[in-house]
Amino acid sequence: KLYQGLIYADRWKLYLEGLGYSLQITLGAIVLGTVLGIVFCLLKISTSRILRFIANVYIDVVRGTPVVVQLLLVYFVILSSPDTSKLVASVLAFGINSGAYVAEIIRAGINSVDPGQMEAGRSLGLSRSQAMRFIILPQAIKNSLPTYASEFIVLIKETAVAGYIGMQDLTKMSSTIISRTYESSVPLITVALIYLAITLGLSKLFAHLERRMNVGDRR
Ligand code: ARG
Repeated sequence: KLYQGLIYADRWKLYLEGLGYSLQITLGAIVLGTVLGIVFCLLKISTSRILRFIANVYIDVVRGTPVVVQLLLVYFVILSSPDTSKLVASVLAFGINSGAYVAEIIRAGINSVDPGQMEAGRSLGLSRSQAMRFIILPQAIKNSLPTYASEFIVLIKETAVAGYIGMQDLTKMSSTIISRTYESSVPLITVALIYLAITLGLSKLFAHLERRMNVGDRR
């Protein structure tokens, strides 16, 4: 059935295609962001002033500027070649963005471990780095998992600005559909509901995993 210039089956194809791009950017960005986050967290807690300075510059610049500006900079200024893949540029921009937040998430996790844990490890004869690896980090990772999981949800929503470089992500796809149907309410509400289903589904899943992870925790 033809509905205002675009049959329903074709609309769903477009929504799915857009969702596919949104998810690809999110997954790529979370992988890159996690690697960068771990590296820059280590730099930030290192004993070298220079390394700490580098980490601070990265984290402050990324968190102090809008992700959409970073995206435009990566695509038009840093990569700037006409045959640059928009998907690659998006993954880079959102990955670099996420890395700064992940670095702070991990650092907060490490700080949340009681200093007595390090002392206890040291008094058992472990070296500093052994105590870090076997006592502090396992607890730190566990403490940061809930915030880290919410970074997923943040990214899925933040990638909605990928249309600024012409990426046909889910949000941009609604504009494409609107421009062909001259009707905005249904496409916009549909897209909002798709985001909502994904974010609600993920937060339910993460809450469930968190409860299961804490089962053995009662002391
Ligand atoms: N909306 C904010 C910005 O434009 C947040 C960026 C992304 N946040 C994140 N946790 N990756 O800068």
